[in-house]
Amino acid sequence: MSILVTGGAGFIGSNFILDWAVRSDELVINLDRLTYAGNPANLATLTDPARYLLIQGDIGDGELVADLLARYRPRAIFNFAAESHVDRSIHAPGTFIQTNVVGTFTLLEIARIFYVSLRGDEERDFRFIHISTDEVYGSLNPADPPFTETSLYAPNSPYSASKAAANHLVRAYFHTYGLPTVTTNCSNNYGPFQFPEKFIPLMILNAINDLPLPIYGDGLQVRDWLHVADHCAALRLVLEKGRPGETYNIGGDQEKTNWEVVTTICDILDRLKPRLDGHSYREMIRRVQDRPGHDRRYAICADKLKNAMGWQPTRNFTEGLVTTIDWYLRESAWLKSVNSGAYRDWVDKQYGLTAGVGAL
Ligand code: NAD
Ligand code: TYD
Repeated sequence: MSILVTGGAGFIGSNFILDWAVRSDELVINLDRLTYAGNPANLATLTDPARYLLIQGDIGDGELVADLLARYRPRAIFNFAAESHVDRSIHAPGTFIQTNVVGTFTLLEIARIFYVSLRGDEERDFRFIHISTDEVYGSLNPADPPFTETSLYAPNSPYSASKAAANHLVRAYFHTYGLPTVTTNCSNNYGPFQFPEKFIPLMILNAINDLPLPIYGDGLQVRDWLHVADHCAALRLVLEKGRPGETYNIGGDQEKTNWEVVTTICDILDRLKPRLDGHSYREMIRRVQDRPGHDRRYAICADKLKNAMGWQPTRNFTEGLVTTIDWYLRESAWLKSVNSGAYRDWVDKQYGLTAGVGAL
């Protein structure tokens, strides 16, 4: 038996495949275009070709996907592949539409053709698991209840709009064609192997390289942080117990302002890797331009998943952050090797980092 994972060389996909490999002998086929965010070195420990295969390719390449499905007959597809960074979607939205919308459409269409050819157990067990985001629901005010699976879609960035469009297609493929799809909308993940343009690894990388820690706007935006290992555990359960046609929200129950996150990172680093001048990393925090269309708050109600499958997030945010920071400190070579210079130049211009708007 096998599963097809798309985008498995990225942050969550890598964690998912590594976690899967310690629990199952099943072959994992990783279809990944290896964009700036895809790093095959994340999976270098998987050396047995009977259990792990990396195929460099695009989810939008229908012929390739059809060939992989015909050849390996996976019992499930986990679609992680996406352009995933909101700032990049503001800078250059085209690839978000191409991969997240058109690419997902192609994957669905080829999966549908494959699915109708299945019979018996293969037909009964096949699942298309689509990994999406809480950002499709837009932004919450401080007093609003968390997003549920029935919250209205109100995406505010090109990224979240492209993910919302893909979610609609996934839903339509279930209702129209009977493709057994399940969609998950998760909150912000953190943990090892996250590309260091995202908030948490960026702050760690900048701090240890003596660079400013840029907080967009007033830093009071709230995100609900989910440890990637808890997310992976939820996705395994969704394959086992998720009902076709359903959506499940996955959140960490750890709402924090960006300001709290950065100061906690600084305090942990003060203990784990004190600055040579004896000052706190907090002194490196800088307030910069706010992100256009910046969502104020995300929060997830994951009761549906908890009640249906007995899943619970197990990581307290501060403890999870300590182990995550420890990982990045040990893997500082990994951090440096994946950082993209050209994109940072754009970010510096966009948010005025070089000039610095001022300390919080
Ligand atoms: P990531 O950017 O780290 O990795 C994305 C991976 O997809 C990379 O390996 C990249 O090479 C690959 N990819 C991109 N375009 C492709 C294409 N056309 N064909 C094949 N592969 C392609 O992303 P991530 O943080 O691991 O996120 C994984 C999924 O989870 C995404 O769908 C994202 O929208 C969703 N998600 C992420 C978060 C988060 O906090 N990271 C939160 C909610 C939802
Ligand atoms: P990000 O990791 O880009 O995730 P998302 O936008 O999908 O939630 O950002 C998390 C939060 O951190 C978001 O409110 C934007 C903010 N942020 C900063 O304040 N400074 C930064 O340099 C980055 C990358 C993000």
